[in-house]
Amino acid sequence: MNDDELFAEPARRAGRLRGVKLEQRAFEATFDGARLRVEAVAAGIGRLRLAESAFAPQRSWDALQPLAPEPSAASAERAGGARLDVGGMRLELADDGRLEVIGPDGDAWLAQTEAAAWGRPRLGALGIRLREGDELPAGRDGVLARLSLRLDPQDRLWGFGQRTGGLDKRGRRLTNWAADPFGIGHHRGSDNLYQALPVFLAVKPGRAFGAFLHVSHLSRFDAGYSDPDLLSVEALGGEIDLFLFAGPTPAEVLEQLTRLTGRPMLPPAWALGFHQSRWGYDRPERLLEVVDGFRERHLPLDAVHLDIDYMRGYRSFTWDPQRFPDPAGFCDAVHRRGARVVTIIDPGVKDDPGAGYRVADEALERGLMLRNGDASPFRGYVWPDRALLPDFARAEVRAWWGDLHRDSLLEAGVDGVWNDMNEPTVFDAPFASGHARDRPIPLGLEHGDAEERATHLEVRNLYGALEGRATFEALERHRPESRPWVLTRSAGVGSQRTCATWMGDNNSWWEHLALSVPQLLGMGLSGSPHAGVDIGGFFENGQPELFARWMELGAFYPFMRNHTALGTRPQEPWAFGAEVEAVARQALELRYRLLPYLVTLAHEASERGAPLMRPLGYEYPNVDAVLDQDDVFLLGPWLLVAPALRPRQRWRSVVLPPGRWRDFWTGREVAGDAAGDARAALLPTLPGRPPLLLREGALLPLGEVRQSTASPPTELRLVVTAAARSRYRLVEDDGASPAAAPRHGAARPGDAGVAITTLALDAEPGRLVLELGARSGGFDPPPRTLTVELRLDRPPERVRLDGRDVQATWDRERSAAELGWADDGAGHRLELTL
Ligand code: GLC
Repeated sequence: MNDDELFAEPARRAGRLRGVKLEQRAFEATFDGARLRVEAVAAGIGRLRLAESAFAPQRSWDALQPLAPEPSAASAERAGGARLDVGGMRLELADDGRLEVIGPDGDAWLAQTEAAAWGRPRLGALGIRLREGDELPAGRDGVLARLSLRLDPQDRLWGFGQRTGGLDKRGRRLTNWAADPFGIGHHRGSDNLYQALPVFLAVKPGRAFGAFLHVSHLSRFDAGYSDPDLLSVEALGGEIDLFLFAGPTPAEVLEQLTRLTGRPMLPPAWALGFHQSRWGYDRPERLLEVVDGFRERHLPLDAVHLDIDYMRGYRSFTWDPQRFPDPAGFCDAVHRRGARVVTIIDPGVKDDPGAGYRVADEALERGLMLRNGDASPFRGYVWPDRALLPDFARAEVRAWWGDLHRDSLLEAGVDGVWNDMNEPTVFDAPFASGHARDRPIPLGLEHGDAEERATHLEVRNLYGALEGRATFEALERHRPESRPWVLTRSAGVGSQRTCATWMGDNNSWWEHLALSVPQLLGMGLSGSPHAGVDIGGFFENGQPELFARWMELGAFYPFMRNHTALGTRPQEPWAFGAEVEAVARQALELRYRLLPYLVTLAHEASERGAPLMRPLGYEYPNVDAVLDQDDVFLLGPWLLVAPALRPRQRWRSVVLPPGRWRDFWTGREVAGDAAGDARAALLPTLPGRPPLLLREGALLPLGEVRQSTASPPTELRLVVTAAARSRYRLVEDDGASPAAAPRHGAARPGDAGVAITTLALDAEPGRLVLELGARSGGFDPPPRTLTVELRLDRPPERVRLDGRDVQATWDRERSAAELGWADDGAGHRLELTL
């Protein structure tokens, strides 16, 4: 977009470089009309701030984690302009005032192409829906800053949070503005959805780096849309505040990003199980029937979700007294069936003064809701018709909101909370009118405490994040003995510390089944790994084959929930007949067998920000042929999943990264044919058996099929494939207590709540050694069998456990040698002669 299209006034430019001041770990440059600060924040993390005059103040609700300064820090030097080495990359300012980000080998990763520009933008150029007659707020809030950078032609651009389309977002314009595409839905051409996560990775074979635009105002990336070689960063609020992460691998970028913005929360075990939901489960009997339906049919289940139907007239923090006269009795009945209860909460509080609705009365009395410029409360339509919105930027409001959960939900025994409509979304007409549509909120609406006033333009992208945080903190406060679980629709950078998310209202379309892969990969790459989509599709009626395939794929989602809209056909796993039910059962059984692995991966996420679902290029960043694969993925390091994504698909082609791959189901090696620097294979997509491959050197922990995580596991199984050398760290915990969980994005406080087992595999021709380290940490798993399942070409000649000869059974169907013993937590050495 050229200046005239973008700006409503002549753009102001940074102008000439006037001077540079060096500091120990930073430099600051003054231009005729701008100020630049470049800082080494921590090893591998740089920060670049560019404003016309003063930098914006740090907000109390900010997503950043305070980072301890590192002793080995960089120092700035003078070089015409200045340069700062932050470890793994250099940030340089040339004497003509242009910025460059330089890799260790001297390559320019990003290079500024023109002087930064500022000005008030044309409203119509912002690409968002606006309220009739709306205007940008006055002052710097309404000033757009733009920085244009040249990209390496080979770079793929990954991340950007919640998006449609493929994994690589290069060539697109990406707006960061939380929005509910209510009434339209989302599709390939959609831009911004419910969450704004202005984070991306630039990846080419051999190196990756990342960036986080630390601006909560409306912002935008033109990622090669206007010019294929240029990335332009545009932000309202008058400042570009860009953190850069040196990588050099995608995994290191995620570590650096989440070091800064907080590590993902650790979900309780039940949250990693299966969740059943639908809008329209409106009576306790109906919900219990659903839970019983799972139990009777031996379909594993861990949670049921209560959508808005449980409330009294859609009033948050109430139960409908006719339909749900005994919430505690209901929760208890679900618990006795080995499942958990999750209730929805919407921020739109019914505007109901004097009608005995405590929440609204208190909110108005204490002035806790968003207000218009004239101090009157802001109102919009949501489910309960006219509604008020809490001002979550205020700590007082977050505490009040959090406490509301105690009497109404927690005391009844509700286990988890689902936050919805928190972009926030308000409609232009009552929902009952049948023609309600999303109605934009005025950009200038005020948020925050008097001493920290901010506009909607600045706070909107963090509104859902702040609600999620209030909820998480309330669960921590009022139920300190268990790990909180909060699901949210809108979210911002930092939400990963407190919330899981789902991708909102999708459709029962094959396109949306396929979309879920790059969409969830993008979420994980943006630092928010605990994500899922509505399995079966939300809008429109589910279809048998589509549903079956969705369950197969959903078994690998970090968050696995079936959900559908009011008025659609039943979508329980048995609603589509016996064949589909059988596939759903296989999918659920696989999910539950994967739980020990998912727990280890969730720990890895909470320690280093590593996503659970990973693009192949995350694990193989040097292999060009796999970087663009976005219809397959890896679950953690060991499993490659190539789901069926089209109707009547009998075969799946898959690009295999280097190394040997074995079919999970048959144990047989999948050779494939050469394809670039990788190989490709064709795999059958049998119902209930999604193409699933084991990487060489896999040390994959599995459990047995359980109907719910409420029953303790009795087996731990290690599925192993040979490799010259492989290492893994298995992490287990009790699934419930907060001891194992990092608090609010911080590092886990020691190993008190976890059990750690290191696994080491070494092989040479004819011989394979697997060493299981003695278990460490404070958690003792319940008594169980430990089974090792080695996927080999043929039965081993000799097997020794701790130096003694033992017998292993040979399972021809899985091509596996198997032996087990009562797990004693001690170290063991298994030696195979092949
Ligand atoms: C929104 C949510 C959806 C929910 C519905 C009713 O559309 O995205 O999941 O079922 O509201 O609460």
